[in-house]
Amino acid sequence: MYQEPEVDLSVEYCGLRFENPFVLSSAPPTDSYEMVQAAFQQGWAGAIMKTTSVESYQVDITYPIMTSMDWEEKKAIALGNIDNISEYHMDVMEEAVRKLKDEFHGKIVGLSLWGTTNKNHWEELTKRSVGIGADLVEISMSCPTDSPFAKTSLMAGQIPDDVKRILGWVKKHSGEMPVIAKLTSQVTDITEIVEAVQEAGGDGVCASDTVHGLLGIDLDTFIPHPNINGKSTFCGVSGPVVKPITLRTLATIARASGIPLAASGGATTWEDAVEFMLVGASTVQFCTAVMHYGFDIVEDLKEGLAYFLEEKGLASASDLIGKALPNILPHGELLIKKDVVASIDESTCTKCGMCYYACRDGGHQAYDLGEDGLPQADPEKCYGCGLCVEICPVECISLVPRPRS
Ligand SMILES: Cc1cc2nc3c(=O)[nH]c(=O)nc-3n(C[C@H](O)[C@H](O)[C@H](O)COP(=O)(O)O)c2cc1C
Ligand code: SF4
Ligand code: SF4
Repeated sequence: MYQEPEVDLSVEYCGLRFENPFVLSSAPPTDSYEMVQAAFQQGWAGAIMKTTSVESYQVDITYPIMTSMDWEEKKAIALGNIDNISEYHMDVMEEAVRKLKDEFHGKIVGLSLWGTTNKNHWEELTKRSVGIGADLVEISMSCPTDSPFAKTSLMAGQIPDDVKRILGWVKKHSGEMPVIAKLTSQVTDITEIVEAVQEAGGDGVCASDTVHGLLGIDLDTFIPHPNINGKSTFCGVSGPVVKPITLRTLATIARASGIPLAASGGATTWEDAVEFMLVGASTVQFCTAVMHYGFDIVEDLKEGLAYFLEEKGLASASDLIGKALPNILPHGELLIKKDVVASIDESTCTKCGMCYYACRDGGHQAYDLGEDGLPQADPEKCYGCGLCVEICPVECISLVPRPRS
């Protein structure tokens, strides 16, 4: 156990107090009472149970549901799933929420609901969620499960009318319980979708889930992954690769509306969580990182965040929310040209030559390799594009003000 710095990790989201910003997203780690119980004992502040449906709804899942993409030495920088909603129906989830609420006072337990095109299903699920005292409900509109209303392969969260229709049914019976729309980034204009959420009375947004993709194809058989009896389908891509998309989506929503935001998509470390908070998220949900490394990561998340706040002289985690937003402008407003050139710290350069090749074939041919193998950037040729800075394996290149001649 670490000696906790004197900072307040708690945050508020949709009127609910979370003891820290770290929440389990609706997914396999929240598919049973036992799993969430174990997670809460480790220190997670809240959990959204895996998406559930009424007992009469048949859930079909085709196994295996997982595939992944590795990059060089790193396993699973992207996870792909063709999972569906939980095989456990509302009765099982109700029991789980009841037990968790009894056992863990102060933890936040939400339900994630799925009612297809059936108004009665949505209404029943909402009433039952209120009945058992769920802290919130999330409406899964971003799952690569097709929108129940669309003829083409669309998600509910891609169609403003569907968003309004479903949220309208839910809001009619939700009373004081916050209703969160879980949205996808895969829309032309996310602000239009958020407007639909607000028009329907949605209390908050969770953004932006997985990204619909195809993670790879077997070059021997030409069958994409995962291989289900010789065929495959598009999957939901999660994990580190989707973090930039989540950051952009959150920032866009936060700049356009004051709606409370939860982040989901690509968080692995406390640093990722801080970045999501800096662009407006109050809470940060984790799924793939937990599926990869286990519930225990929450110790590192809490410790890392606490020491970071202390180091920054901030008293509370909520002080981080939205702090990077004023620093994001439309490209055209970045008026000030920064006149810089590359400069190498020769004492740590390993003479690997990567900067030379990057600049030669992707930059501005500014480097010469000396006889000793040490690259030298010609300030006359260097545009200060920053490519070599980004690819240097030992991070010994920086951009410095262009020398005045
Ligand atoms: C195997 C798997 C199953 C999932 N099932 C659900 C689900 O039932 N409901 C839901 O809203 N999101 C579901 N998700 C999406 C996650 O909750 C999360 O939004 C997404 O994985 C992005 O976050 P991450 O990068 O932290 O994993 C699932 C994700 C995975 C990997
Ligand atoms: S990439 Fe970095 S380490 Fe490699 S030669 Fe260039 S400056 Fe040196
Ligand atoms: S900053 Fe760009 S142009 Fe300058 S040396 Fe590096 S890669 Fe070349």
